[in-house]
Amino acid sequence: MCGIVAYLGENNAIPLLIDGLKRLEYRGYDSAGIAFIDKDKKLATIKRKGKIKNLEKEIKEDMFSNIGIAHTRWATHGEPNDVNAHPHTDCKGEIAVVHNGIIENFRAIKDFLIKKGHKIKTDTDTEVIAHLIEDNYRGDLLNATRMALNIVEGTYGIAVISSKEPDKIIIARNGSPIAIAQNDGNYYAASDASAIIGKSESLYYLKDKEICVMSREGLNITTLDNIPVTPEFQKIEFDLSQIEKGGFPHFMLKEIYEQPEVIMNTIRGRIDVENGDVRLNGLKDYKEWFGKDVNRIIFTACGTSWHASLIAEYLIEKLAGIPVEVEYASEFRYRNPIIDRNTAVFVITQSGETADTLAALREAKKKGANVFGICNVVGSTIARETDAGIYVHAGPEIGVASTKAFTAQIIGALLIALYLGRMRKLGYEEGKTILENLLKLPEQIQTLLKEHDKIEKIADNFRNSKNFLYLGRGLNFPIALEGALKMKEISYIHAEGYPAAEMKHGPIALIDENMPVVFVATKDSIYDKVINNIEEVKARRGKVIAIATEGDEDIRKVADFVVYVPKTIDVLVPILTVIPLQLMAYYLAVYNGCNVDQPRNLAKSVTVE
Ligand code: G6P
Repeated sequence: MCGIVAYLGENNAIPLLIDGLKRLEYRGYDSAGIAFIDKDKKLATIKRKGKIKNLEKEIKEDMFSNIGIAHTRWATHGEPNDVNAHPHTDCKGEIAVVHNGIIENFRAIKDFLIKKGHKIKTDTDTEVIAHLIEDNYRGDLLNATRMALNIVEGTYGIAVISSKEPDKIIIARNGSPIAIAQNDGNYYAASDASAIIGKSESLYYLKDKEICVMSREGLNITTLDNIPVTPEFQKIEFDLSQIEKGGFPHFMLKEIYEQPEVIMNTIRGRIDVENGDVRLNGLKDYKEWFGKDVNRIIFTACGTSWHASLIAEYLIEKLAGIPVEVEYASEFRYRNPIIDRNTAVFVITQSGETADTLAALREAKKKGANVFGICNVVGSTIARETDAGIYVHAGPEIGVASTKAFTAQIIGALLIALYLGRMRKLGYEEGKTILENLLKLPEQIQTLLKEHDKIEKIADNFRNSKNFLYLGRGLNFPIALEGALKMKEISYIHAEGYPAAEMKHGPIALIDENMPVVFVATKDSIYDKVINNIEEVKARRGKVIAIATEGDEDIRKVADFVVYVPKTIDVLVPILTVIPLQLMAYYLAVYNGCNVDQPRNLAKSVTVE
């Protein structure tokens, strides 16, 4: 959610900043802008509504500077236009600020600044930071920024430059991620590692209320209260090829195809097939507590990660017999969640930066809970603030609509369910069977992906559909929700997910010959009941697309279209059934000319509440 890049060093900052912005574009693409110190030591600002390519058109070949800041926006305050695009400047155009986050008290600050004679030009919350710095400037940019940040309330990751001190960038963070890196006299800052890859091998994520001065003398990090900080740099764990499309037309498609490999990365070093058990070093300090004391688990998350939590609920209850509740992170702290010493709280998050999930985590900790993470991005805020947890190692996910991270989250949840189960009621044989079948999944997914032509053709039949209904039962219910979410997110077609049996309590009223209904109808204990639900749809002339188990010929008699998934055991079914739904949403989005990787109004990492 909003991407920031900053650079100071030997090279031309401008192409470097544009390149960094392109890698962060998934965080927001309402507008983009840069500010740099030009040849006459003046502050230059260029900003444009829309994608980075609009900004790029404004860049002249002879523009040169070796210091600059840049921003790609996901609008919160003020409509997306040229004026509201970052960077924002003070009255004299000498100080420029880029910001990710929300300044909650900006209205009061704005009134105060206007009374003092400042000229506010935009509708954004960010602009007040530039004016506050101007207001507090007494010959020291660091100090003025500190004073400004002591006045603002809310979240920020910011970068500031000024023509008054043209060899310096000030970076600060409270709640919105900022990583910094250095290499041979070149200094970088960015909202995440993807903009820094290839420039440096390691990075340091600023902590909340830390402020960093980048200058030709190096990095100087302190807290807002001026206590020196010694940064611990960590190795960047992925390389450039992982954030490029590798021959695929879209990141989303590439990421769908990466799922077999992702599964292997999530389980690597963690499974012991012979003993039907798993090793989770990330949870080892709590092993005894999980084995004996935990009597209730709460999962909290947002979006696709919330769907993964629903699957976790089913898996843990089935394999470990511990009661589980799932709560939207955005709702968690607005009720009074009952947490005691024996409650474990798990958060699931791809980015590790989702503001609502972070707020839920902090609320749970405040109530004394042990909080654990199932997280993808290494070193992210949530990964750091949880007491323990596991990384899912899906690699960088660039497509805004989550695919491979979802699969990895389900595998992560399964490993935790097995871990807890084997300490409790789950027998060795059952554990072993699950693991043996888990190892077959990557190949089964490869087989399923070969069906892409067929799925593309099915999607073709529904190019003009305005609505979709997704139905499933048991473990396939969260998959129905996820299928509907993918469809909405990237193809802008309205879609609803429901437990199949709930259809008769409302959605059935929507069914006519124009309503495609996707049934996730694999062969399991409730298969016959799902077939009855399909009949109910057919009786009302709905069009049925069934995701069924390979070999199930009967379903052809009731469904208009069938996609088969390979046979596996119940607990692994969702990992297979979600794939045709991801592909179907993908193909429909392509047919409809939608921007698959950067759907309108969405952002990959939602760092505002
Ligand atoms: C955004 C993304 C979703 C994601 C959700 C939660 O809405 O577009 O794909 O599922 O945030 O993000 P997280 O990083 O916490 O999993």
